Amino acid sequence: MLSFILLSLSSYVAGAAIERRDAVPAGYVAPPYYPSPHGGWVSDWSESFRKASLLVSRMTLAEKTNLTAGSGIFMGRCVGNTGSAERVGIPQLCLQDGPLGVRNTDHNTAFPAGITVGATFDKDLMRRRGVAIGEEFRGKGVNIHLGPSVGALGRKPRGGRNWEGFGSDPVLQAFGGALSVEGIQSVGVIATIKHLIANEQEMYRMYSAVKPGISSNLDDRTLHELYLWPFAEGVRSGVGSVMIAYNAVNGSACSQNSYLINGILKDELGFQGFVMSDWLAQISGVASALAGLDMSMPGDIHTVPVVLGSSYWMYEYSRAILNGSIPVDRLDDSVTRILAAYFQMGQDQNYPRPNFDTNTQNAEGPLYPGALISPSGVVNEFVNVQANHAEVAREVARDAITLLKNTGNVLPLPRNSTLKIFGTDAEKNPDGINSCADQGCNKGTLGMGWGSGSARYPYMDSPIDGFKARGASYQFFNTDSFPSNSNPSPNDTAVVFVTADSGENYITVENNPGDRTSSNLNLWHNGDRLIQDVAAKYTNIIVVVHTVGPVLLDGWHDLPSVKAILFAHLPGQEAGASLMEVLYGDVSPSGHLPYTVPKSEDDYSDSVSLVGYQIGQPQDTFSEGLYIDYRHFHKANIKPRYAFGHGLSYTNFSFSNAVLTGVTPLRSTPPTRPAKGATPAYSTAIPPASEAYWPENFSRIWRYLYSWLEKADADNAAKAASSTTKYPYPAGYSNVQKPGPSAGGAQGGNPALFDVAYDVSVTVTNTGSRAGKAVAQLYVQFPTSSFDTPILQLRDFEKTSNLAPGASETLKLRLTRKDLSVWDVVSQNWIIPNLGGDYGVWIGDSSDNLRLRCGTAARTCVGNQPSLV
Ligand code: BGC
Repeated sequence: MLSFILLSLSSYVAGAAIERRDAVPAGYVAPPYYPSPHGGWVSDWSESFRKASLLVSRMTLAEKTNLTAGSGIFMGRCVGNTGSAERVGIPQLCLQDGPLGVRNTDHNTAFPAGITVGATFDKDLMRRRGVAIGEEFRGKGVNIHLGPSVGALGRKPRGGRNWEGFGSDPVLQAFGGALSVEGIQSVGVIATIKHLIANEQEMYRMYSAVKPGISSNLDDRTLHELYLWPFAEGVRSGVGSVMIAYNAVNGSACSQNSYLINGILKDELGFQGFVMSDWLAQISGVASALAGLDMSMPGDIHTVPVVLGSSYWMYEYSRAILNGSIPVDRLDDSVTRILAAYFQMGQDQNYPRPNFDTNTQNAEGPLYPGALISPSGVVNEFVNVQANHAEVAREVARDAITLLKNTGNVLPLPRNSTLKIFGTDAEKNPDGINSCADQGCNKGTLGMGWGSGSARYPYMDSPIDGFKARGASYQFFNTDSFPSNSNPSPNDTAVVFVTADSGENYITVENNPGDRTSSNLNLWHNGDRLIQDVAAKYTNIIVVVHTVGPVLLDGWHDLPSVKAILFAHLPGQEAGASLMEVLYGDVSPSGHLPYTVPKSEDDYSDSVSLVGYQIGQPQDTFSEGLYIDYRHFHKANIKPRYAFGHGLSYTNFSFSNAVLTGVTPLRSTPPTRPAKGATPAYSTAIPPASEAYWPENFSRIWRYLYSWLEKADADNAAKAASSTTKYPYPAGYSNVQKPGPSAGGAQGGNPALFDVAYDVSVTVTNTGSRAGKAVAQLYVQFPTSSFDTPILQLRDFEKTSNLAPGASETLKLRLTRKDLSVWDVVSQNWIIPNLGGDYGVWIGDSSDNLRLRCGTAARTCVGNQPSLV
């Protein structure tokens, strides 16, 4: 965070030459969409909106604006702290990172990262991890959890924060995100899906006083079919909050992009909760309010005044209401949305207050560390929220482990193996497991990437701890260079631990400013060399990779002594025992790759490279459209090193008896959407200026952001309301509520989009000799039509229980109307491009191992088909 301030300060000082916002390439538009749709029209939320609007009608102007922004950076115990409205019973709301556990605290669980969860392909685990995370946030008194992350989607393999999400496919990402939301919110915590949208690289993500943030330029169809898909599912699951990304989309900063917030999110997706900015992403006051932003975080202005304490909202919002520039119903709608989410999760019933402090690990400290002079008090109460969450964390870490190669069945390891273990990743960071703030270093076992998506480890169960606990016979060489004293003997098995790390832009690790600019897709710390050197001396080598995403394996993959390769992803605190269970065969590995592993970085299209420095606004044009990750490899006919979805087991499975059953008859276009339900009625009358006056004898904290105005200021603002000069509203501005687009109608979009078109069932049999879990992946192949579609697209997946040898289980999968549709930019709706055509429904255990094909035309399923790719 400090870096934010320094960054802002330096950009302000450099300030004179403000770089203009460049025009985006032709064809990429963010058309104006006004006004901001009122929330409350979805029946699931009616009762919460009723309670919220009743409360709002009793609140003063300053109480209302006080809830729409934070009290300032470092001005409270949580990473974001709204103002309060104590008179009507609303406390300050605590917002806290991050997607894999409560950040910057103690007695918490450091869960496996999102990418690890994606690799399990296990919906039940996705949800159960969400519940456990929710319990920890609740236990610490967090109202609003800043996760899950479903954007970045992983378009750029080097992108710094892909690991916070669930994988480089919109459907995998959507299940990961939506099931996390359901789990987290089931215990009363408001989840936040982030970052809307197309936040695919770290560098140049933020606006500064001199340079606009990067513009992600993407077409409407790509937006809908890829990047928006997981957000739509999160909204459908009733998520209470959405965080807006730093970057621009099609030239318009996401934090004030009316097309995105008002149009796509609130109207088309029917989002009922509130929209918050990413930290210091807000760059205007009135414009962002009109564009649909509901909460400014952490409240400050993004440039130099961060140091001084000033805001686009809070007191300025009060002024903007009094002088008539922001319509009263816009503020009322924002506050009602925030309070509706609060009621929707039951936070009015005995919700705990924050009992930790993100700014310090000490028991006592300043209450407002960002202030020059601050009262002090107890800030950390060290509440233990771990319960038995280590178990689900371990289960996720274990069931994510992805076996890529296992020549000669070198795995599982016999109990009495003699092991030589190499690589610093096998053991805890010798400087201390939390020695680097926000895990901003790659030292010792890599359990997570760095940045706001990290958490402190309560402990790290390292692989070496795991070997010790097993009583393994091993020698460990805690070095990343091959030691001369390892005395190879023919009976040894060598286990080599290697890593690849990435994170958020405000920390640079080993020359990687978040994105992997310097390491590229290579292993860190000369991992290739270590494996090659070990391979020269040992005949049986197992390589364990802790990684944030795709890495290149080709420097050593085919060496004859490299027998087994495992991706253990980012296991969080549970790196050891989870790995032992797989290495020693207590369980069979059952993880599958949540992204493609290429043979070379040239395998990707150029347009997914990181965008470097550009004069003016950096432009990042998504010219590959739908073709990211496996969609690209299939189209370009490039064989990857390992395909999306690949993952071996110690046993074998067969897929048989597939049955495809029609459920809802389809037409080319979905049935007409339901009309919006009623929304609260808001007065348009400007409240009296006295509602914003400072209370008498109030003792102010320097730099704290308040919503009050000096009496004279408030009175002047009220006078300005009757002036004939009106605020210059943006092009396309209107204050008349719209019925909403045809593609909308409920949370997530037109409810008919989620009608099940086909049920598909398949029997999975364990044909091998060990127990194991299988994943059935279902991909759809669109029939030929005037729409170009990727060859195969994941639409559903299911995992079996642990099947004994010979045992079978029938898995149920489904295809919705949306799964069979394309986004038609002309009619602005989801349409079935070739209604009578034969959709191929392919089932198998990897995107390149699909042998069972059902066809929607004949409604039959046939096995042993040649692979499409
Ligand atoms: C990140 C968000 C995070 C926020 C608060 C930002 O820099 O992009 O993901 O929630 O900070 O720490």
